[in-house]
Amino acid sequence: MKRAGFTTRMGAIAASVGSAVGLGNIWRFPYEAGQNGGGAFILVYILCVLALGIPVMLSEFVIGRSTHKSMMGALEQLAPGSKVKWFTPVCILGAITTLSFYSVVCGWVCEYLYLSFTGELSGHTPQEYSDIFATFMASPWRCVGWTLLFMVVNFAVMLQGVEKGIERLSTFLMPLLFLLLVVFCINSFTMPKCGDGLKFLFAVDFSHFTWRGVVDAMGQAFMSLSLGIACLITYSSYFNDKTSLTRDAGVIAGLDTLVALLAGVVIFPAVFSYGFEPQAGPKLVFEVLPAIFQQMTGGQVWCVLFFTLLLVASLTSTISLSEIPIAFLMEEGKMSRRRSTLWCAVVVVAMAVVCALSFNVLDHIRAFGMNIFDLLNYASANVFMLLGGLFTAIYVGWVVDRRVVRRQLNDGSRLAPVLTRYVVFCLRYVAPVAIVLIFLYYVGVL
Ligand code: PHE
Repeated sequence: MKRAGFTTRMGAIAASVGSAVGLGNIWRFPYEAGQNGGGAFILVYILCVLALGIPVMLSEFVIGRSTHKSMMGALEQLAPGSKVKWFTPVCILGAITTLSFYSVVCGWVCEYLYLSFTGELSGHTPQEYSDIFATFMASPWRCVGWTLLFMVVNFAVMLQGVEKGIERLSTFLMPLLFLLLVVFCINSFTMPKCGDGLKFLFAVDFSHFTWRGVVDAMGQAFMSLSLGIACLITYSSYFNDKTSLTRDAGVIAGLDTLVALLAGVVIFPAVFSYGFEPQAGPKLVFEVLPAIFQQMTGGQVWCVLFFTLLLVASLTSTISLSEIPIAFLMEEGKMSRRRSTLWCAVVVVAMAVVCALSFNVLDHIRAFGMNIFDLLNYASANVFMLLGGLFTAIYVGWVVDRRVVRRQLNDGSRLAPVLTRYVVFCLRYVAPVAIVLIFLYYVGVL
């Protein structure tokens, strides 16, 4: 089968940024930071991006671009006959799990877009914004309905094979989202308790920080950078051989982290000014954002614009998530695109509906103190993605021929030898030791 490639360097980067930037940055990052004490979490998060995220991203790039195949085929080509390729189904399962809870949050964005159109989000008190979210979550029909609608759009895009079109669309919509975040940041500086918010976000205080916080920061870095579930292996299999992987990884990780930090600067001054709880969890952003828009001139327009762009950003992420199982079924199951898309849709929709119901009808079903949604959300980042990251780090660090790694990472620049050494060191030692030790500490084995 002839493989399409990204014709330009921009196309390849834009698709990867499209995958990386999404709800992970704007919804998940602020509430994770809020739950884990702010500044200390952010410092650990940035260290995770530098020492684990970028090297693991490069390990996925090396696997994908050196073979121009998606995960299973790539692993077979790099180590013929070895059993390691059977790790691939774990990543596929990770992608399906992520997609299931992620599409529920996309459904929330749809509801909020709808409410902002109808004007129902305008002119309320902070308490009323909390109530609006609670009322929505209590309604199984609305939660499931919006999730299904989003899923239909997502899989229709996959079925029609128009994801490249969506990605092109997002190349000019994403800068707009970025610009919007900058405007909201400036607006944040005018809030009465802006200082408290920024202090919470940037003053490092380890007194309340726990091992759980470190695991969360690692998982969040992997989730935000789309790592550990074969997504970037698949995308980089389309990269052409001339682009510099190290530079691209730097740009993608840099932009992704910037968007997350901007989201933090937008949210926390408002959290303190309006008396919300920083530890509110997944609902945080959905309560705080409408409160921010409503005190801005032309609030409703900002609101509509923002949720529209957030929806597009989420769609480019779910497209990249859907591509993982679909490509797997096409290549390994020898199915047509249509058939594999339909199979994935059936499984994901079933799981997503259960997730959407876990705030109301199925709220009583709990494991480890979490409902089904929280459990899948937690498992996606902190189990599947960390495990997948551990796997690719060890694989590229120890198994893949060092010459292949060097050739892939050598872009002819003066810094290339130093960077390659840094990346290989992180893959061989830092990532495996950090992920395993921190996890053992967290579960109490050490
Ligand atoms: N990185 C995406 C986000 O931050 C989520 C994602 C994870 C997408 C893994 C693809 C693969 O929203």
